[in-house]
Amino acid sequence: METGMDIKNIGLRGVVVASTNIGDVDGSVGRLVYRGYLIKDLAGKASFEEVVHLLLNESLPNGDELKAFLAQLVAERAVDAELIAALKTRPRTALPMDILQAAVSMLAHHDPEVDDPSREANYRKAIRLIAKLATVAAAWERIRNGQEPIDPDPNLSHAANFLYMMNGEVPDEDIASYFDAALVMHAEHGFNASTFAAREIASTRAHMYAAIAGAVGSLSGELHGGANTRVMEMLMEIGSPDRVEGYVAEQFDSGKRIMGLGHAVYKVDDPRAKILAPMSKVVGERFGETKWYEMSALLEQVAKEQFKKRKGRDIYTNVDFYSASLYYMMGIPMDQFTPIFAIARVAGWSAHVIEEQFAEAAPKPMLYRPESDYVGHYCGPEVCQFVPVEDR
Ligand SMILES: CC(C)(COP(=O)(O)OP(=O)(O)OC[C@H]1O[C@@H](n2cnc3c(N)ncnc32)[C@H](O)[C@@H]1OP(=O)(O)O)[C@@H](O)C(=O)NCCC(=O)NCCS
Repeated sequence: METGMDIKNIGLRGVVVASTNIGDVDGSVGRLVYRGYLIKDLAGKASFEEVVHLLLNESLPNGDELKAFLAQLVAERAVDAELIAALKTRPRTALPMDILQAAVSMLAHHDPEVDDPSREANYRKAIRLIAKLATVAAAWERIRNGQEPIDPDPNLSHAANFLYMMNGEVPDEDIASYFDAALVMHAEHGFNASTFAAREIASTRAHMYAAIAGAVGSLSGELHGGANTRVMEMLMEIGSPDRVEGYVAEQFDSGKRIMGLGHAVYKVDDPRAKILAPMSKVVGERFGETKWYEMSALLEQVAKEQFKKRKGRDIYTNVDFYSASLYYMMGIPMDQFTPIFAIARVAGWSAHVIEEQFAEAAPKPMLYRPESDYVGHYCGPEVCQFVPVEDR
């Protein structure tokens, strides 16, 4: 951060608030790294479970380690019947992210180690949360459609099992592997808003579930994880390629944002968008419906051109732009896109909560406590004199 720069109202951009060993985002060159590995070397090559192991244990597992790790995750997939019963009492109109956030808090009620502050217990809580959030998200989809939740299948990968629990059909290998790669690409992203929310909560020594529930709330906003749902809504509103140009002009003319474009950190292509775009194309071709990919590609091109013309600078697609059409083609309901982001990002969140509370390297993280600049009023040069209600 430049000395003398006014750091108010810039949303902490450029302010380094902690050290981390987990991930690195270099927005100037479009580089995303998980514990030393480039995202392009992980997505599609390492499974989501391998990446979870990497995030939580600092290394990719060997064959035996992976087998043991998979067994731990599979053993934690089921959620308590009382929690499922509680979900059935919720209005079917409840937003899936609100359900997920509430369910994280309810999972705490069923964890006998909830307030065990040891590193070992926190590791086990992380495994439980990563395994169970997928089950909750899929169960809610069934419940709100009047269907019974489907029990997890221990023989399926995390990605395939989620799609199975949500749709009732085991996905074919290709679809499961694309979905797995999407989970990998959403698993971690430095000090993004929701991860920072989780770390801030963890810095008070609140427990893992409190931190993750806060992170889910942060992710739900349309400037963060909520953008993927908004991208699909936008594509539907546009409807056909011939309307793309007019739509972009209308948005820019009225000062509105185009969802899935722009990023607080990346000033070049988001490396995840570069991987997701061809995946969206291939999956569209696979299902014989390339319209959504084609409209996305055209929208990207037109929006970039118009943005450059109007603002004299570039704008790029982010992770949410092509994941929207990809998930849609996989038959995932639009308002479940953000919960899917959450079931992947919970891996990064929980690794960060553990790092926040147990970092061994000095300086250790402290309770976050920024300051604000009071621009409210006083009564003249003095503080205001209190007047009891009956005399006001
Ligand atoms: C993500 C986001 C909040 C990052 O914002 P940021 O880099 O901090 O940029 P700012 O919000 O400060 O905007 C910088 C400029 O670019 C413009 N801009 C940024 N994203 C834009 C978008 N998606 N559409 C249109 N204009 C956009 C802003 O209007 C602003 O213009 P100005 O300087 O003339 O006022 C922003 O790009 C955005 O709102 N994107 C859409 C939502 C989205 O896709 N979120 C998911 C992020 S992974």
